[in-house]
Amino acid sequence: MRFARSHFPRGFTFGAASSAYQIEGHDAGGAGPTHWDTFAATPGNVAHGHNGARACDHYHRCPEDLDLLAAAGFDAYRFSTSWARVLPEGRGAPNPDGLDFYDRLTDAICERGLAPHVTLYHWELPAALADLGGWRNRDIAGWFADFTALVMGRIGDRVASVAPVNEPWCVSWLGHFLGQHAPGLRDIRAAARAMHHVLLAHGRAIEVMRAMGLSNLGAVVNQEWAQPADDSPEARAATDLYDGYYNRFFLEAMFHARYPANVLAGLEPHLPHGWEEGFDVIAAPLDWCGVNYYTRSIIAPNEGPWPGHHTIKGPLETTAMGWEIYPQGLSDLLQRIAAEYTGDLPLVVTENGMASDEGQQDIGRIAYLDAHLAAARAALDRGVPLAGYFVWSLLDNFEWACGYDARFGLVNVAYDTQERTPKASYHALADALRR
Ligand code: FCB
Repeated sequence: MRFARSHFPRGFTFGAASSAYQIEGHDAGGAGPTHWDTFAATPGNVAHGHNGARACDHYHRCPEDLDLLAAAGFDAYRFSTSWARVLPEGRGAPNPDGLDFYDRLTDAICERGLAPHVTLYHWELPAALADLGGWRNRDIAGWFADFTALVMGRIGDRVASVAPVNEPWCVSWLGHFLGQHAPGLRDIRAAARAMHHVLLAHGRAIEVMRAMGLSNLGAVVNQEWAQPADDSPEARAATDLYDGYYNRFFLEAMFHARYPANVLAGLEPHLPHGWEEGFDVIAAPLDWCGVNYYTRSIIAPNEGPWPGHHTIKGPLETTAMGWEIYPQGLSDLLQRIAAEYTGDLPLVVTENGMASDEGQQDIGRIAYLDAHLAAARAALDRGVPLAGYFVWSLLDNFEWACGYDARFGLVNVAYDTQERTPKASYHALADALRR
């Protein structure tokens, strides 16, 4: 690895990221059912019918996993709290074991000298709330605010940063328009509602946490570099639209209190009544912004209904997900976000990494991380106030619709025995973090 910690400014945070449903083992500890359990139980949604019932058994093995993080020389750990573990019905009576778990986990992170960075919602919506319409129901903003108050009442005194929602685009568009994630809908009205309500929920959670006196509150968006398939005006317009609802929609709402005009042109008829009134809540001031970056997309127009385009396969080398490897997109997106949305606010790469089939000798992952760390460094050189970089992920884990097939970990997990074995990329990073 060419990357070394010393190439980055003092105080720059290096961490690894994870999420609750992907690693904890949802069957343990009295968690309630979630829409990911029901989505996974429906044939055809998840590879091999895999689900998060056991996952990496992190619920029981978190001390060992945190030891691995600390031994690699990371400064921080980004994890998420499962709503249904804390509130099995989504509202009402808390599960004391769930709150105890996050309390213990936070202590265990701190005891190892790691900084806890929390995401409140990383996709496993309590099934009881899905029954009430989930993200399509405006009331979710209030339910989420209550969940936020409960969790932060317990661990808020020790957290280094909090983001309410991981990747609002995935929550809304991937789950309600493309149907590839729970709840598996393919419905533009559902998607539009989810897009607006997830932002309202974000804003309400920020409000609640400000009132509790918490600081270092941010947002985590996923971003893809969007590139037109050719130079035609049609391909450019299609790419602007893709960029609009994927990359800009959520940033523009949170930082400029509006939705992009080219997205509204198609989406407005499907947005909930009174959406224009929501921005006081949605655009509550933030302290930082997190960017999850993996790949680029190449966009071509088509004749279908709005948004009238599709992605095509590009020429670059791909990861085991079939995602093109395009590190330059990371520097370019960070630069654009700082210039157009966040100004002097610290940006953080909250996720970056790749799925690989290489097993222990994951040379491809070492190269991927190296190239993206260089891209992060290049963003700093261009004046972007980048403050941290988190690898996705420490462990192989439940990769949503791909089940356990896609392995993103620096550490191999043998799911039959739950044995953890650090891969070459883990050792390379550990070495680089010491240099
Ligand atoms: C991101 C998700 C994360 C993981 C990676 C590969 O979109 O936040 O849970 O699935 O992709």
